[in-house]
Amino acid sequence: MNLLGIEGASTQDILSFLDLAEEFVDESGRLSTPSRFGDALKGESIGLLFFEPSTRTRASFELAVTRLGGYPLHLSSESSSIKKGETEVDTCQNLQAMGVAGFVLRHKHRDVVGTVGDSVEVPVINAGNGTGEHPTQALLDAFTLRRALAPQRTLDGAVVTIMGDIRHSRVACSNVHCLTALGAKVRIAGPPELLPPDDLNWPVERYEDRAAALRGADAVMVLRIQAERMPANVVDVHAFIRRWSIDADVVADEMEDHAFIMHPGPVIRGIELTDEVADSDRSLILHQTRNGVAVRQAVLLRCLGRL
Ligand code: CP
Repeated sequence: MNLLGIEGASTQDILSFLDLAEEFVDESGRLSTPSRFGDALKGESIGLLFFEPSTRTRASFELAVTRLGGYPLHLSSESSSIKKGETEVDTCQNLQAMGVAGFVLRHKHRDVVGTVGDSVEVPVINAGNGTGEHPTQALLDAFTLRRALAPQRTLDGAVVTIMGDIRHSRVACSNVHCLTALGAKVRIAGPPELLPPDDLNWPVERYEDRAAALRGADAVMVLRIQAERMPANVVDVHAFIRRWSIDADVVADEMEDHAFIMHPGPVIRGIELTDEVADSDRSLILHQTRNGVAVRQAVLLRCLGRL
């Protein structure tokens, strides 16, 4: 089974990933792999093909494969024959011929991951495709927020504000579909040049004012300005910081007392968040990173049919 995106996934599909991921986090929140899963990928190689930079996604997939007893096979565009002009499809078909059991693929162009998925006979997991989707990020975000809200609250009916550069964000796209499928009310907020066109028809409320977007929200997911996906000078960074950055005063004056702060990373400190906010007790950022390993273990097991 491929995992190329969250759009179109059923609530039950999403919950099956989240519920399986709970197996890989113990009662205190630490990562833990039950012995019955320790050899689930024994003897299997999983291709980790990151043709765009990554820290969290790449490292957590490597840890997830290793914790399930498999072998992570790394390829990058710089160190592979992609650099000589080979296509991604040819690369993956050659690796499949060597026995690779599945691919985790990140690419700056949104079509490549789907094209590879149509061209190989083993599962393909999208680790981020340009401005398309980042499905495992949305799953780990939902997993983290579900745990943070429990036991008093659930995602059903929770209000989540996604703030910053929404237009160029695959994380925003996957999160809108994931959170709304789980019953959350999703707001998107940012300067007009960083909001998506209206015709995307996402089931969200749009805000162009930070205080209004934060009022009544149970969590805010902050996104960085994705400068690599837009022409220079689209964003006035100083104006962005003034109107959209979250510092301690914004937390105190504009956020609900119980609201959480999330960020998929990488955090550009001083632009979307100040140090004291990123490192505060309200921040779930490192919980998200840690839970990413558990969620990616669940995704690998389900996509590879190893349950
Ligand atoms: N959140 C995320 O995708 O981070 P990386 O780019 O470091 O993988």
